[in-house]
Amino acid sequence: MTDAKTSRARLARLEHEFAADIAAVALLLDLPTAKRDAEQLGRSWRAACVSHSALRTLVRDIWRETATRRTPASGDRAALHDLHIAAKDVRSRLRDWARYARIVERQITPEAAPLFQEVGEPGTHLDIMGHVSRLFFDALHAVANPAARTQSDKAHEAMHYRDIPLPMVQFLDLIGAAYRVCLAQRGTHPLRFLDVGSGGGTKVLAATCCFDICHGLEFEDHTVATGTALLKMLGADQCTLMQGDAMRFDNYGNYDVIYFYRPLKLEALMIDMEARIFSQARRGTILLAPSGLMTPNPEQHGVRSVSGFVYVTGLNEAEVQVLHDEARHIGPCIPGHNPDHVSDCGFWEPLRDVCRRNGYLI
Ligand SMILES: C[S@@+](CC[C@H](N)C(=O)[O-])C[C@H]1O[C@@H](n2cnc3c(N)ncnc32)[C@H](O)[C@@H]1O
Repeated sequence: MTDAKTSRARLARLEHEFAADIAAVALLLDLPTAKRDAEQLGRSWRAACVSHSALRTLVRDIWRETATRRTPASGDRAALHDLHIAAKDVRSRLRDWARYARIVERQITPEAAPLFQEVGEPGTHLDIMGHVSRLFFDALHAVANPAARTQSDKAHEAMHYRDIPLPMVQFLDLIGAAYRVCLAQRGTHPLRFLDVGSGGGTKVLAATCCFDICHGLEFEDHTVATGTALLKMLGADQCTLMQGDAMRFDNYGNYDVIYFYRPLKLEALMIDMEARIFSQARRGTILLAPSGLMTPNPEQHGVRSVSGFVYVTGLNEAEVQVLHDEARHIGPCIPGHNPDHVSDCGFWEPLRDVCRRNGYLI
């Protein structure tokens, strides 16, 4: 067998080469799909495949030899142990190769997927999960706002809607699409979400699956109180419900994604509220309005639909088109409610990070 120190040096060199190849692939994948050089990306990926193969073969040989080698001369013992541990470490990281390879190959020849999935024919499949989920969402809503059916006189006079929840499935489609648009924009973290007229905050809670900081603005004190108690009980630290009036709120400019589902009954009031949001929102803010915007010709206010009821502020038509194309090439994975902790993944790190930014989770 080659001497342990020589093998250790060779292992370090091949690991270094593989890490460099992986980092090169990651750098190319970090570009918007329209700007990627497919040939260069393909070449870079093939180089990574070759260096992976060389590294894997070396690790396998070292593993076999260090496991079977009989008592070495005492001077070699430490070097052999060191080599064995190093090979073990690389071997365990390389187990992720197949998963990374699948995801990289999907991105080398990316397919555009619409921001909203086609809805299947109702009643064509057994939807037990759908029924159970609805039962649970309704239960959570009832806990978050036990007074959902009562309304303060003040809110009634101001022509507010009560806390009537948008079906969660519709909301999830919206935030999934918004998250892909955020990734396409390469928005900086933390991504901040606001539900205007949040009721007891069940949508605020659900939004944490996509966004880092989630706020709700709600007029009714009692709803803010019960919703806040529930969120606290659930340990939802990234959620805050604020008591306030959407018609007077001054901080719409603090958010990356703003959602509102018919807080106000009168169309004219909705238009006033939208005008307030349009005037404060930063360029590139995503607006989610599941009933559609009430403002006629929102383009005149610089607000355009990216797809369906997902809108963006401050971009011209061509910019929105580019954003939409890019978002359609973002993968389908969202962080979820239990994102895996950021662990040291060695040479995979740049690739793991760029895959996340491109909507693919390992
Ligand atoms: C139709 S519900 C929507 C609840 C939740 N956002 C959802 O999508 O399931 C409208 C909520 O907006 C609140 N609301 C109405 N007018 C408001 C205002 N001017 N400012 C803040 N909240 C308001 C109501 O109290 C109610 O909880």
